[in-house]
Amino acid sequence: MAQLWGGRFTKETDQLVYNFNASISFDRKFYRQDIQGSIAHVSMLGRQGILTQEEMQAITKCLQEICRDVESGKLEITEEYEDIHSFVEANLIDRLGDVGKKLHTGRSRNDQVALDMRLYTRQELLVTNGLLKELLETILSIMEKHVDTIMPGFTHLQKAQPVTLAHHMGAYFEMFKRDRQRMYDIYQRMNYCPLGSGALAGTTYPLDREYTAELLDFYGPTLNSMDGVSDRDYLIEFLSALSTVMMHLSRFSEEIIIWNSNEYQFVEIDDAYSTGSSIMPQKKNPDIAELVRGKTGRVYGALMSLLTTMKGIPLAYNKDMQEDKELSFDAFDTVKGCLALFNGMLATMKFNTKRMYDSSNKGFTNATDAADYLVNHGVPFRDAHGIVGRLVLACIEKNIAIDDMPLEELQAISPVFEADIYEAISMETCVNKRLTVGAPGKEAMERVIAAAHEYLSKDWQDAIR
Ligand code: ARG
Repeated sequence: MAQLWGGRFTKETDQLVYNFNASISFDRKFYRQDIQGSIAHVSMLGRQGILTQEEMQAITKCLQEICRDVESGKLEITEEYEDIHSFVEANLIDRLGDVGKKLHTGRSRNDQVALDMRLYTRQELLVTNGLLKELLETILSIMEKHVDTIMPGFTHLQKAQPVTLAHHMGAYFEMFKRDRQRMYDIYQRMNYCPLGSGALAGTTYPLDREYTAELLDFYGPTLNSMDGVSDRDYLIEFLSALSTVMMHLSRFSEEIIIWNSNEYQFVEIDDAYSTGSSIMPQKKNPDIAELVRGKTGRVYGALMSLLTTMKGIPLAYNKDMQEDKELSFDAFDTVKGCLALFNGMLATMKFNTKRMYDSSNKGFTNATDAADYLVNHGVPFRDAHGIVGRLVLACIEKNIAIDDMPLEELQAISPVFEADIYEAISMETCVNKRLTVGAPGKEAMERVIAAAHEYLSKDWQDAIR
């Protein structure tokens, strides 16, 4: 048992208590952030004259060595330490002796862990943002190729009106674009440094909190030390944004699973992203999409869990907050994995454009346009709706599409129909006449694609860092 406290205790900690309390098994994940924070803290202590220049330099150099040794595998993070903070400090003292004992001057593990978790989350947020950008690029390249690929659009999972594959993909582009915007918003709010909050009430040393904040790339220090050590809002916001990313990925996965089914055959998932069955040789299963859909619950679980943990915690730090880590790390890794795999699956997926076109052609997806034709010839919309309803019924009886109904029979239902009706209700016309902003018509779609390129060419991440 290696712990940083014990002076006031007269008994050894019970082993089970020690194990229950320890966090090294998971907080080892942010050893780099812990060392980075300590280096900033020590640089500031040196600058303020709280440590001598020699002490500051010796500690900094040694912390850098510890980091290098952990990275190279020379130094192993073992469970004999209570947490990552104790591990780093104990190793520093081992190597430097008494000078190492000065590292923790004017600091508490409370502001230390608050900083580490914030630094780690910030890094994960930037990585997630990058993965979202890659996914958006894949979606945009599909959009560009399929401006003319007609497919049925659905409501209630029933064929509704024809759209294009570009348009359908464009809906997901908007969703993941908003997800990236959420990353940006969260970054703006969270990027303040809690270091220097001490245990809860700041410290009596003349710390320069602006300086440490600047060294660590924060916009500035947090403004209340009690809040500084006990705020996990940024984590809840990030988990909430990640839950929304997963909700989008899950809806997309659900569609891919449907499109990949034998009944639809709109897409074919690449062999590299499908799996077989141990008993049914004909099977090629969309497991990746199903797993992404399935893992969504796990990420929602992390959000619910942390919200529940935080709701009863009085100010300031309480040990409950140690529970923020495992579930967050699991959620971060899950979402990163899902984004990367989903992107690979999408980028290699084949679209069966003929199946899509034929499907849109056969499900009365042009019934609205037939009614609009009548309206354009002076029939009130409600009457036109009734006429086309009867027309659809007649087609169903004959098992044909509206387009296959001879003109005389169309005219028997309404004399307003003329020979140009066939052109007016062709799939191409149905799509390309829809030119309102955000609609699937080619010109409208091309404007959206240009705007999407413009959006992707600007990278907030580069602008900030
Ligand atoms: N492992 C602790 C956590 O994750 C670090 C902070 C410990 N602070 C304390 N006062 N016991 O929250």
